[in-house]
Order: sequence, then C-alpha cells, then structure tokens
Amino acid sequence: MLSLVACSSGPTAAKEPVAAATGATSASPKPKPKPKSTPTPTAAPFNKAANSVDDPSSIWVVVNKTRPLNPANYAPTDLVYPAVTYVNRQPMRAEVANALVAMFAAGASESQLKFSVQSAYRSFAAQTSVYDQIVETKGQAQADTISARPGYSEHQTGLAVDISAVPASCSLQACFANTPQGKWLAANAWKYGFVLRYPADKVAVTGYSFEPWHYRYVGVTLSTELHNTGVETLEEFFGLPGGTTYH
Ligand code: DAL
Ligand code: ZN
Repeated sequence: MLSLVACSSGPTAAKEPVAAATGATSASPKPKPKPKSTPTPTAAPFNKAANSVDDPSSIWVVVNKTRPLNPANYAPTDLVYPAVTYVNRQPMRAEVANALVAMFAAGASESQLKFSVQSAYRSFAAQTSVYDQIVETKGQAQADTISARPGYSEHQTGLAVDISAVPASCSLQACFANTPQGKWLAANAWKYGFVLRYPADKVAVTGYSFEPWHYRYVGVTLSTELHNTGVETLEEFFGLPGGTTYH
C-alpha cells in the first residue's frame, strides 16, 4: 500500500484517462492509432430564429427608426430595481438586472471600477417628455440623432441601460468611451449579455450618434455570437432595416 501511495502524483492521478496511464507505464509500446472515423465535435450553427426580433418582450427585439415597438405603448411586466447606484432611479427587466449586477461586480473586482445606472426603463410617456425636451432645446433634426421618438426607444423595452462612471465622468457624452469605465464596458459587456448598441461607425445603420454609455441586453448567447463574429449591430446580424430616417 505504501509504495502505491508513493508512486502516485496525487489524489487526481487515479482519475487520469486510461490511455495516458497506460502510456506512462509503457505497458504497450505501440499505442493503436486513432480510428480515422472519430467524429470531431462541431458547434451547432447559430439559430437566428431562436427568439423573436419583433415581439417587444423578446430579448432579441430589434427597435429602431424603421421598427417601432408594437404595440407602441408596450410596457414590460417584470421591472425591478437592482441594488446598484443610480443617477436616476429607473427599473429594468429582471433578467437585465441580474446581468447588470454581475457585470458591475466584475468591473469592481477585476478593475476596481464603479458604475451607476444613468437611466434604464422609460415608459412611452417618459420617452415623450425626454424627446420633447430635446426637440425644444436643439430642434427636431438634431434631437432625432440622439433621442428616439416615443414608441421607438429601446429604453421602453426595459432592456437598455445607460451606464455612467462613479464618480461621474463624461456622463452621456462621447468622451465616456475614453474613461476607464467606458473602456472596460466596451471590452467586457458581451460576457454579461450586453452590446454597445450605437457604435461610432454605425450611425447610418442604427440611426443614432455614438452612445458609448448605452448598453442593450440581448443575452449571453447572442452577445457572444456578435463578439465572435465581429458583427457590430443587430440590424446587420439579423439582416433588418435601420437607418437615420423615420418611415
Ligand atoms: N438615446 C436613445 C437612442 C433613445 O432615446 O432611445
Ligand atoms: Zn440609452
């Protein structure tokens, strides 16, 4: 018994695959070649139809200037307030909240970064007042490049979160992209199911200016596929219309 224990490299040694153990003891000098027919495991092709892109309650819903929410007054039924820091205390869908908490925790533990929710769910009525206020100050043409009209905003799905740095730095400004928080999110949000929805180089597709703070939850399966394929927008991935004008 003693010698057996001494020869063992540890408690895991006994669990080594039989082939490796046999090779190590040279019981068989010529190991059999692998049969040529051994099937190689291949990843199943991504199923783009797994979730609806039309249903406003689907985590894959694609909302833009040519794809309004249907119904226009849609409101999610599972809104919650996760235990995070808020600039504006606005809820989000439960699945989004769980992912956001995990993402903020990772940013804190990996890079000592703190984040806040700048804004999240906005009802049709709330979007109306946000949009109208921007139209009043900037005019409709400019407002349409930065704010969605009511019934056309991802914020109304409860799946979008505007994220700011704590302490606040470049909140809701393009320079947020250059903050440690903006950089960390851009590199890591996909691991938690979020995508940067309005990239700088996709204005013609998404219809909106660069919003490095606006993250859209789509779930880890889709965010990982987008990350792996390098496709930046939901419109391009699903082959759906977008653009800068309302139809
Ligand atoms: N700022 C984004 C486009 C919205 O208003 O939904
Ligand atoms: Zn936003």
